[in-house]
Amino acid sequence: MKKRIGILTSGGDCPGLNATLRGVAKALYQRMGEDVEIIGVINGYSGLIKGEWRVMQPREFNGILTVGGTILGTKRTPFKLMRVIGEDNVDKVAEMKKNYKEMKLDCLLCLGGNGTHKTANLLSEEGLNIIGLPKTIDNDIYGTDVTFGFHTAVDIATEAIDRVHTTAGSHSRCMVVELMGNKAGWLTLYAGIAGGADIILLPERPYSIESVCSAIERRAEQGKSFSILAVAEGVFDVAEARMKRKERMAKRAELGYSTATNRIAKDIEEMTGFETRVCVPGHMQRGGSPSPYDRLLATQFGAYAAKMVENEIYGITVAMKNNHVEANKLSDIAGKARLVPESHGMLDVARRMGISLG
Ligand code: F6P
Repeated sequence: MKKRIGILTSGGDCPGLNATLRGVAKALYQRMGEDVEIIGVINGYSGLIKGEWRVMQPREFNGILTVGGTILGTKRTPFKLMRVIGEDNVDKVAEMKKNYKEMKLDCLLCLGGNGTHKTANLLSEEGLNIIGLPKTIDNDIYGTDVTFGFHTAVDIATEAIDRVHTTAGSHSRCMVVELMGNKAGWLTLYAGIAGGADIILLPERPYSIESVCSAIERRAEQGKSFSILAVAEGVFDVAEARMKRKERMAKRAELGYSTATNRIAKDIEEMTGFETRVCVPGHMQRGGSPSPYDRLLATQFGAYAAKMVENEIYGITVAMKNNHVEANKLSDIAGKARLVPESHGMLDVARRMGISLG
C-alpha cells in the first residue's frame, strides 16, 4: 500500500528549509519509489488547521537545494493558542486531527523551531505520527548541537560586521550591529567572534553600560579609534534584568524603544563622546541561499527523517549530536530551549581575545 507522508514548514523561515524538504523527498522517492506520496501542507499549522494542502509532484523538489525560504509557505501559529478557542469558534487541535485523517496520512513531518516542536509534541500526544526537523537561525532547539539555518545566518551576520569595520575605522565611530536572537545569543556570539567584534552582548548575560563604555575607552587609550559591538536584539541591562519581561517591555514602550540597541548607541555617545551608529541587518539574516554547511546538514537531516518514515519511528525529532545524526523524543525536548550556557567554550574564547561581554 502506498504511504502518504505529510510535510509542513512552520514558524519563521530560514535558509535550508527547501534543502531539507528536498532531502526528505529525494530519499523517500529513492527508497520507496511509487510506493510513497508526499502531501505538502501549506503555510505550516495554519494550513493543517484550515485543510490547505496539495499532493506534491516529485519534480517540485528539483532545483530547490539552493533556494532560500520554503516552497510550502510558512506562518507563525502560536503554540499557546493551539488549545484556545477564539472568536472564530475553531477547535484548532480537533481540526488538525480531522485534516490529518482526511489527508489519509501515515505520518506528518514538521520542520520548524521551538514553537513548532511544542505543537508537534502536542499532536504526537494526540496520537498522530509525527517527526520533527530542527530549523532556526537562533540555534536554540534543545537536544541538538546545531539547527539548519544557523550557519548561513552566521555567515550573513559576519559579513555585516565585516562591512561596518571599514566605515567605523574611517569615521572613528562606534558601530552597534543588532543581530537576531530574542532569547538565545548563539548567532551574535558566533558572528561576533567571526567578525572580530570588540564587544558582544547576549540576552543570556545582562550587560552594564558602564562596562561597555569602559571597554570602548580602553580601546581608545590603546590608540584604537573605533569599536564594533555585536548586540543580540533581545539584550537587556542589569537593571532591566531585575524586572519581569512584561514590565521591561512596558517600560521600554513608555520610553519609546523596543530593542536596547538604540539606547546603547545613545548612551555610548553621551558617556564616551564617540559618534555612534546602529546597523540592523534584520531579516537579511534569514534570506537567500543556504551555505554549503547548511545544505549538507539539511540533506543529512532530510535523509535521516526519510529513514525514520521507512522504519515507522514516530514521536521523535532529528538532531545532530557530536557530529552524529540521531533522534530525540519529542516529549524530551518540547518546551525546552537551548541557550548559551555561562560555561560555554566560546565565551571563554571571547574573554581570552579581550572581547568585552558587557
Ligand atoms: O525565529 C527566528 C527569528 O528570526 C528570531 O531570531 C527573531 O526574533 C524572529 O524570528 C523574528 O520574527 P518575525 O520574522 O516574525 O519578525
